[in-house]
Amino acid sequence: MASLKLVDVTKVFGEGTNEVVALNRVNFESRQGELTLILGPSGSGKSTLLTIIGGLQSPTSGEVYVNGQLVDVKDVKSSDFFRLNQVGFVLQSHSLVPFLTVKKQFELADRVKKQNNLQTEQFNHYLQILGIDQLLDKYPNQLSGGQSQRVAIARAIYTNPDFILADEPTAALDSDRVKKVGELFKQIAASEDKAVVIVTHDLRLEQFADHVYHIEDGAITQTK
Ligand SMILES: Nc1ncnc2c1ncn2[C@@H]1O[C@H](COP(=O)(O)OP(=O)(O)OP(=O)(O)O)[C@@H](O)[C@H]1O
Ligand SMILES: [Mg+2]
Repeated sequence: MASLKLVDVTKVFGEGTNEVVALNRVNFESRQGELTLILGPSGSGKSTLLTIIGGLQSPTSGEVYVNGQLVDVKDVKSSDFFRLNQVGFVLQSHSLVPFLTVKKQFELADRVKKQNNLQTEQFNHYLQILGIDQLLDKYPNQLSGGQSQRVAIARAIYTNPDFILADEPTAALDSDRVKKVGELFKQIAASEDKAVVIVTHDLRLEQFADHVYHIEDGAITQTK
């Protein structure tokens, strides 16, 4: 059963007078089949938390468990493997490759990881829900902020990962799109049995979440 767990995770940046405690003894859990939302204002530690969950950076102290197994955060090789095979990221910057069309962004993911991708039919269905099925031949600089955000969401789903981690996936979207994206994430968690974690300040997503955490100044509390 796919699960992610953080135990007493602290992340400190800088030293002395420059020291910033971005995460302060965070305890958090996310399970397969569930959409978990982490709400917090700017600078509260959301991106730091999500990148630690996904093995992109290591905590200063505390433990990370994936599927019940303690992750050796210093073991770069195994955390690379985890990222590649089990995690789909929607990064805050959307991070599309500028010289590739939308369609080629997906083909790139294909080259990195071949097995287990979604069936074409099913993926096309998601492209339609996201409203980007007509944009496949466009380049990132021809897309609006909201469109590239939705392409980034599709790219994370495409490789059919066990975990989908999204950083502010709805920041550039109007309310109708937020509803569609919220429903899509919820559906993917429930019917595809994924563990979906979204960090955001967008309260419009709260209604779609199975579990809700609030983070402020690096401290987290669960409210649902
Ligand atoms: N690499 C870094 N070096 C130093 N400080 C950092 C670093 N990354 C984050 N911080 C600090 O840690 C705190 C949390 O940052 P983080 O990016 O996690 O916030 P956030 O909740 O994602 O904010 P936003 O909503 O604006 O994206 C901030 O005070 C930030 O300045
Ligand atoms: Mg952030």
